[in-house]
Amino acid sequence: MKNALGQPQSLLLLGGSSEIGLATARRLVRERTRRVHLAGRPSPALTAAADELTALGAEVTVHDFDAAAVDTHEPVLGKVFADGDIDVVLLAFGVLGDQRRDERDPLAAAAVVQVNYTGAVTAALVSAQALRQQGHGSLVVLSSVAGERARRANFIYGSTKAGLDAFAQGLGDSLQGTGVHVMVVRPGFVRGRMTEGLPEAPMATTPDAVAEALLAGLRRGSDTVWAPGALRIVMSGLRHLPRPLFRRLPV
Ligand SMILES: NC(=O)c1ccc[n+]([C@@H]2O[C@H](COP(=O)([O-])OP(=O)(O)OC[C@H]3O[C@@H](n4cnc5c(N)ncnc54)[C@H](OP(=O)(O)O)[C@@H]3O)[C@@H](O)[C@H]2O)c1
Repeated sequence: MKNALGQPQSLLLLGGSSEIGLATARRLVRERTRRVHLAGRPSPALTAAADELTALGAEVTVHDFDAAAVDTHEPVLGKVFADGDIDVVLLAFGVLGDQRRDERDPLAAAAVVQVNYTGAVTAALVSAQALRQQGHGSLVVLSSVAGERARRANFIYGSTKAGLDAFAQGLGDSLQGTGVHVMVVRPGFVRGRMTEGLPEAPMATTPDAVAEALLAGLRRGSDTVWAPGALRIVMSGLRHLPRPLFRRLPV
């Protein structure tokens, strides 16, 4: 349960080594979150994340979780929720894929869809059901500005985020009045592991800045957060640009 100051006491990070997820977890632990569940595929990065958060004072548990293995989500996440209430679930796993390769390899494209959309749907539904049973908690879903409008450069990834974004909005509406809140976060280009080696897009940001915007949104009880915030205005214009013009933009 949140403490008297309304600060979350427990976090479940789905995608336990995500840079944005970890930047958020670090801030939460510094602010007072005591229990952190890191769910992810075993890796040195996941172990390092657990060690770092433990050193900051959190009680950390690591869970084997593969977003693509959708039939495991109920048992794996069921165990996490059986261990005590969770105040915040942060759905932070995702893959960018390689657009050019994936266009030529439909099964590689399907693997991106399986993680970013199918796996996110099952993990979110299992989490939402558990939060509903608790009667409180927030589910934060990392969508992307890429889902706002399909771009030639990354429409496979973008389409998965468009689907996830729509799903999360509907899920949030379905949970009105249950005590469970769903917040969709739409970062722009974030400098980090996922975008390493890619040409930087305008208004690029950092995992830490996204974490800051995310937590401010949680405190406000927002339904949607853009990071940076000015992207909301930019995208409200770009969304309506005629396609022949949009196609020519260097985005
Ligand atoms: N970086 C950006 O520019 C950007 C912009 C907008 C939105 N986002 C979204 O924000 C979220 C976090 O991104 P990030 O920047 O923090 O990237 P990141 O550091 O690359 O994190 C991605 C996370 O997804 C996990 N993951 C990938 N496939 C998985 C699977 N099959 N099962 C479980 N976990 C899996 C990775 O774990 P492994 O270590 O096991 O691979 C990693 O923890 C993603 O959903 C991303 O799409 C990112």
